[in-house]
Amino acid sequence: MTATSAAMPILHQASTTPVDAERREQMLSEPGFGRYFTDHMYVAEWTSEHGWHDAVVRPYGPFIVDPASSVLHYAQEIFEGMKAYRHEDGSVWTFRPEVNAQRFQRSAARMALPELPIADFVAAIEALVRTDEAWVPAGGETSLYLRPFMFASEVFLGVRPARHVTFAVIASPAGPYFPGGVQPVSIWLSEDYTRAAPGGTGAAKCGGNYAASLIAQAEAIENGCDQVVFLDARNSRDVEELGGMNIFFVQADGSIVTPELNGSILEGVTRASVLDLAGELGHKTSERPITIDEWRDGVASGDIVEVFACGTAAVVTPVGSLKWRDGELSSGPDAGPVTAQIRSRLLDVQYGRCGDPHGWMHRLT
Ligand code: COI
Repeated sequence: MTATSAAMPILHQASTTPVDAERREQMLSEPGFGRYFTDHMYVAEWTSEHGWHDAVVRPYGPFIVDPASSVLHYAQEIFEGMKAYRHEDGSVWTFRPEVNAQRFQRSAARMALPELPIADFVAAIEALVRTDEAWVPAGGETSLYLRPFMFASEVFLGVRPARHVTFAVIASPAGPYFPGGVQPVSIWLSEDYTRAAPGGTGAAKCGGNYAASLIAQAEAIENGCDQVVFLDARNSRDVEELGGMNIFFVQADGSIVTPELNGSILEGVTRASVLDLAGELGHKTSERPITIDEWRDGVASGDIVEVFACGTAAVVTPVGSLKWRDGELSSGPDAGPVTAQIRSRLLDVQYGRCGDPHGWMHRLT
């Protein structure tokens, strides 16, 4: 099905206990990340017999999850990360929703989950944000973070693709992902753990990839770092990605390099957008393998002048240092000029402060 096909009908059940306006404004004034949730959620069900059905925007609240639901045992689950942005004139927009919808379909295919039509994915986002529009913060770099997800809800312990699946979208007002704001983050090199292997699920946005990153992320924190970077599983040589973000390197001649998609790296929507924007800003861009030695030697020799991470939640975040068991190096205390330029260009598009020649923005209200 394509983006133009009709989405399934959506029932609306309004919350009878919405958060009062004063409390909501308090939450919006300091949202943090992933702490507060709006009054409603979108939910739809799929069964192998009836396909997608029973779409509803209903009051936010717990699911009743049977202890034998297969997601609890075999982790058949995928998710997306998106944002709704309030523009200066009060209207609310999201960024490239059909690209997230397509990735969601690819993740579903990898995890043997049913494909959700793009029209239903986009309609779910529209319905939830229109219902909870008052929860979209205004000002600064705030947004309403949107979390579509799908999980195996069949009550069955046999190991096979579930025949009952639930799709839902929740929304959470968000400030910067990193508590320090746009300060450069420090990165710990994971030498004992990999995130994804060839033929594995690295390119799918499934919960298991993030679960697998947590022990390495904990090691990063123990070593005083904000984030972890993973190398390829085969050779422990090529830089792949951080715990939940892609990585870019700016070279002395202004060219920009990011690890090429190799089946175990997540195809970030921000990653793809940064490549386009950087090219338009006059930077030569390339996607190719980058070894950890090239990173270390490049910073030491001055061939690599800036490093940054990117993702929906993190936007574009400068990387200030890399630390490993036997050493560390610093790429500077501030965001470099190229990182800052790309970051502002992306945010200008997302917040409607400049033209949108690609037609990336999708109006929600
Ligand atoms: C995002 O950037 O939206 C992500 O999904 C990364 C992380 C918050 C899990």
